[in-house]
Amino acid sequence: MKIFLDTANISEIKEGVSMGLVDGVTTNPTLLSKESGTFREIIESICKIVDGPVSVEVVSEKEEEIVKEAKEHAEIAKNVVVKIPLTVEGLKAVKRLSKENIKTNVTLVFSPSQALLAAKAGASYVSPFIGRIDDISWNGMELIEKIMIIYENYGFETEVIVASVRHPMHVVEAALIGAPIVTMPFSVFKALFKHPLTDIGIERFLRDWESFKKK
Ligand code: E4P
Repeated sequence: MKIFLDTANISEIKEGVSMGLVDGVTTNPTLLSKESGTFREIIESICKIVDGPVSVEVVSEKEEEIVKEAKEHAEIAKNVVVKIPLTVEGLKAVKRLSKENIKTNVTLVFSPSQALLAAKAGASYVSPFIGRIDDISWNGMELIEKIMIIYENYGFETEVIVASVRHPMHVVEAALIGAPIVTMPFSVFKALFKHPLTDIGIERFLRDWESFKKK
């Protein structure tokens, strides 16, 4: 499973990348609004730190403007993937961009039919938001399962990014169904390492080592 960090925070990204397990980053306007610096400065920095895809979202809503903005984003760095919300205009833009080999991540996906259309349009990635679905008492992981079956049925190459992840169990459930990529907040990534019995075990081993040395 590929692990992406869902953040625009440079310190978090540096720390995550230094752990050697981060394969990419996803950002969105909300995440950017929490950081200081200009849009370009932040994206350039992230793209230098991360040796993998960095999703950068467009805010334009019409096909022509989306394509123009997407090309500007794609010029920032080689690893930029342009994130485009799932709308009719958005998918028209995705179709055009895919023909020009500009990578896209279709975002704000909440149904299997939307994911089917994104793949047909030639999206490189699709981002179903499982946490926001769980928030309204539906089952986000079922959506991932359905999308993976549909993509398998037709041999679509679009990769599923499990997004809007809220806790470590989302990551585990995604792994159990073989989801290819999960993007997660840094807090969730760090929580994946933790187990109280590991901490207790280390403490005991160190204590026993000290008493062994004193013998
Ligand atoms: C995905 O690419 C989005 O950036 C993100 O996962 C949205 O998560 P949220 O629902 O916690 O805002």
